[in-house]
Amino acid sequence: MAGKITVVGAGHVGEVCAQRLAEKELCREVVLIDIIEGIPQGKGLDQWESAPVEGFDTRVTGANGYGPAEGSDLFIVTAGIARKPGMSRDDLLRTNAGIVRSVSEQIARVAPEAVVIVVSNPLDVMAYVAKEATGFPRERVVGMAGVLDTARFRSFIALELDVSVEDVQAMVLGGHGDTMVPLVSYTTVSGIPVSHLIPRDRLDALIERTRNGGAEIVGYLKTGSAYYAPSAAAVQMAEAIVRDKRRILPAAAYLEGEYGHDGIYLGVPCKLGEGGLQEVIEVPLSDAEAAALAKSADHVRGTMAHL
Ligand code: NAI
Ligand code: 2OP
Repeated sequence: MAGKITVVGAGHVGEVCAQRLAEKELCREVVLIDIIEGIPQGKGLDQWESAPVEGFDTRVTGANGYGPAEGSDLFIVTAGIARKPGMSRDDLLRTNAGIVRSVSEQIARVAPEAVVIVVSNPLDVMAYVAKEATGFPRERVVGMAGVLDTARFRSFIALELDVSVEDVQAMVLGGHGDTMVPLVSYTTVSGIPVSHLIPRDRLDALIERTRNGGAEIVGYLKTGSAYYAPSAAAVQMAEAIVRDKRRILPAAAYLEGEYGHDGIYLGVPCKLGEGGLQEVIEVPLSDAEAAALAKSADHVRGTMAHL
């Protein structure tokens, strides 16, 4: 069990991350940090008061400063703003980059050996900003998107076939956005290639729904974006790391030549365990999949260029 995990940003994603971490008892202490006075303290105390009912002993506290986060083993960074009317994507990019940069500098100051999971959007670029600002090696800064995108794809396949989600395995790579790359050739249901079970036109529809998964939820909620599945995904990555499970999960990793890309964060299969990213797993891709991944990488580079 880890000693301490700090979640930065006590909004929708952050608060549910904290609760899931505590209920799974992944550490002795969860610290929730936000700039809004009272919010992390109130949410942290409320969660801790659920401990006797839920039966967990992980202490949850909230703070506005980084003192209580000192020595954390792991950080989940969810701080940021959502796009508001009249704001361009570039405005959002610059604002969140400023937030993630300042948060990352604080992390490096109070916990220089920590592992960081970045959630804030635009994900692939924010992971890059966190790596630069902390000065941590790539092993200790990873981004969450692939587990979420893959979970959406798996959930839609399970609905389509009316089977258990547990039997559906898939891998969605690439940047977190419209250019993500669901790998149909690596998608199976209890070992059966999904293309044997679902006709191509229906599969294409499920892929399209996966690409629009975030927008579909925003369309319903109107005032915010998804947080139950995103927090579950971030906590699954945290669990793999603090329990040294060495799970192979799709995550945004800083590429150093893998898949033919260098110097950017992109969603790829990663082995996650003690210390964070233990290995980027390279799998053969078809020409079409490699081209789709290259297009996605170009999109991430384009967003980085706006910074
Ligand atoms: P939210 O608006 O509910 O919460 C964000 C929180 O960050 C707010 O409480 C705000 O006060 C706080 N914050 C702002 N600046 C801060 C700073 N400097 N230090 C500490 N806290 C600060 O937003 P939500 O729904 O929790 O989403 C958070 C971020 O995660 C957004 O950027 C969102 O787009 C992203 N996201 C990414 C996903 C992914 O797959 N990578 C999935 C879902 C959300
Ligand atoms: C999502 O995919 C908003 O990135 C977020 O739900």
